[in-house]
Amino acid sequence: MDKERKLLIAGNWKMNKTVAEAVSLVEGLVRELSNVKEVDILVCPPFTALYAVSQKILDTQIRLGAQTMNENNYGAYTGEINAGMLKEFSVRYVILGHSERRQYYKEDDALIAKKALAAHAAALKPIICVGETLAQREAGQAEAVIGKQVEGSLAGLSADQMEETVIAYEPVWAIGTGKTATSAQAQEIHQFIRKTLAKMFGEAVAKKVRILYGGSVKPANARELMSQPDVDGGLVGGAALEVRSFSDIVKNSI
Ligand code: PGA
Repeated sequence: MDKERKLLIAGNWKMNKTVAEAVSLVEGLVRELSNVKEVDILVCPPFTALYAVSQKILDTQIRLGAQTMNENNYGAYTGEINAGMLKEFSVRYVILGHSERRQYYKEDDALIAKKALAAHAAALKPIICVGETLAQREAGQAEAVIGKQVEGSLAGLSADQMEETVIAYEPVWAIGTGKTATSAQAQEIHQFIRKTLAKMFGEAVAKKVRILYGGSVKPANARELMSQPDVDGGLVGGAALEVRSFSDIVKNSI
C-alpha cells in the first residue's frame, strides 16, 4: 500500500498473557513478521512480560510499547511505574489515555497531557487515545468530544514533541464489541483530528503525525481501513492476542 506516512500496527495485549504465554506469542510473531519492513510493528504486553518480550525481539523489526505509565519521576506512588523504568526494557512507545484508563481509572485530558510530557522527557513516544461513546456519537457530539480530548491531551507539547507523538482514534463503541467503524467513518474522524492538529501545531507537523484506528480491527477489515488516506495504522486489542490474526492484519495492511 502506498501511503503518505509509514503504517504502524500496534498490538495492545491489555491484561492478558503470563510470561510464558507472552513469550510464545512473540516468538510466533517474530517467525511470521521478522522480514516485514513496509510497516512498523509494535507489541504492548503487560508490565510483567516486558522484559521477557524485550529479549525475544532483539535484532528484529518488532518494537516494544507499554500500556500506561505514571507522570512522576520517582517516589511514593504505590503500584505505579515510571518512564525511566520502562526505558530499562527498551520500551519505545507508551499508550496513554486508553478509553479503559479514562473510564475505570478516571484519567482525564489534563493527566494524560502530563503523562505525555513525562514520556517525551524520557524519549518515549506516546500513543494518545481519543474516542467518543455511542451516546455521544448518536447525539452528534463525536467531533466536539474528540476535539476537546485532542486539545486537552496534547496541551503543552512542542511541535517537535508532537511529531514524535502518535494518536489513536478508538470509538468506545467499537472496542471489543465486534462493531467496527466503517472506513468512511474512520476517515472522517481521522481527517478531523489532523485538521485539529494543524490548527494547534501547524500544517507541516499535522502531516507527519500518524493517526491509528482502533476498535475491532481484524484481518478481514484491515486492508479497507488502512487504505483510507488519513488512517496510518491500527491499535489492535483482541486480534493481537493470536499469532495468526495479528500477523494477518499486518500482512493485509501492506
Ligand atoms: P479491540 O481493542 O481490537 O479488542 O476492539 C482495541 C483497543 O482497545 O485498543
